[in-house]
Amino acid sequence: MTVYFNKMLNKALRRNKERIGDVNAQIEDSLAGIRTVKSFANESFEIEKFNRENIRFLESRKNTYKAEALFYNSFESIIQLITITVIIFGSVNIVNTDLDLADLITFLLYINFMIEPIQRLNHMSTQLQEGITGFQRFMEIMNMKPAIENKPDAVILPEIRGEIEFRQVSFRYEDHLDKVIQNLSLRIEPGEYVALVGPSGAGKTTLCSLIPRLYDVTDGEVLIDGIDVRNIDLQSLRQK
Ligand SMILES: Nc1ncnc2c1ncn2[C@@H]1O[C@H](COP(=O)(O)OP(=O)(O)OP(=O)(O)O)[C@@H](O)[C@H]1O
Ligand SMILES: [Mg+2]
Repeated sequence: MTVYFNKMLNKALRRNKERIGDVNAQIEDSLAGIRTVKSFANESFEIEKFNRENIRFLESRKNTYKAEALFYNSFESIIQLITITVIIFGSVNIVNTDLDLADLITFLLYINFMIEPIQRLNHMSTQLQEGITGFQRFMEIMNMKPAIENKPDAVILPEIRGEIEFRQVSFRYEDHLDKVIQNLSLRIEPGEYVALVGPSGAGKTTLCSLIPRLYDVTDGEVLIDGIDVRNIDLQSLRQK
């Protein structure tokens, strides 16, 4: 039972940690852009976004308390049942003169000795799981591999002329999101200036961030001086 409930607590507490992470990310995002938010009088929108994350956190917290309540109460009930069972069977045996009263009392004392450490261990389990899940989450983040990595045979560019070419480029941030860029081809000669014009959210920043390979294209290729940016050493690409 302890193992089962510990697993349940572990799951609930892990979700807590993920949700509070979301809340923190949301707050950081809002605070970093607070000037923009205020300039566009978007406070209520930000508050709404915060509330949404906060409610998700609250829900996950509720689930933890539910798991805890179920755990402690089931355990306490079983402990009480042990004592009651011993008293009932003991009394029956005393009536049948199979058992002395002194033996029954000794037995009850033994049961208390046995139960006490288990009880103490159980009371520690929330703290224990709190620690374990924190560590698990920490390891998860430390082991996270960056999505964009250097190829083993990546070339280092000694000099960049500055010819940028987008060839049939399509891009989406996540698989479940819509494409921000679709089938875009564009060639910029060295020294040439190009202005990207479009409403907010059109994808201007996105397009630019494909050049230093902050993101990888979904389809097509981005070339610098005729070399696919995915084949260029990241450090050398960004430095240049
Ligand atoms: N990190 C991201 N994850 C998911 N979607 C994103 C991300 N960054 C931008 N988007 C979405 O991609 C689209 C293009 O955004 P982008 O920031 O490139 O627009 P923009 O043209 O630079 O806008 P602005 O003029 O406001 O700077 C928008 O719909 C935006 O919501
Ligand atoms: Mg932008």
